[in-house]
Amino acid sequence: MSDSDLLSAARKARRLARAAFSNFKVGAALETRDGVIITGCNIENATYGLTMCAERVAMFKALSDGHRQFRRIAVVTGARTPAPPCGACRQVLWEFGGNLEIVLANLRGATVRYTLSDLLPLPFDARRLK
Ligand code: THU
Repeated sequence: MSDSDLLSAARKARRLARAAFSNFKVGAALETRDGVIITGCNIENATYGLTMCAERVAMFKALSDGHRQFRRIAVVTGARTPAPPCGACRQVLWEFGGNLEIVLANLRGATVRYTLSDLLPLPFDARRLK
């Protein structure tokens, strides 16, 4: 699957964002190892703190549908430069997705690629509990 397929799924998911408080809409598209795309958008809440980011919505949807192995995640925002996942999302993506490829884009077509270990170089995960 090309970056552009994954990015267009993320762009489409972004339109479903429930972002009444920040007006900052985010769409994510997570690709499983076997090529399935699971999307997510951010969902805000009047108490603010219960807001859920697009990346975690996508990962939780995927996990609850039984997906376990992941390859890439694309994230699209309307920001001037492509916005990276927040710290909480990096942690969750690492724990369930490992060293994912991350493709960030904005609506002007700017695209940047990372691996999750670029963004989370010294992760805490289950191996640290031993
Ligand atoms: N947001 C995401 O969905 N993903 C991120 O990685 C960063 C932030 C959302 C949360 C909130 O709804 C809005 O963007 C502003 O922070």
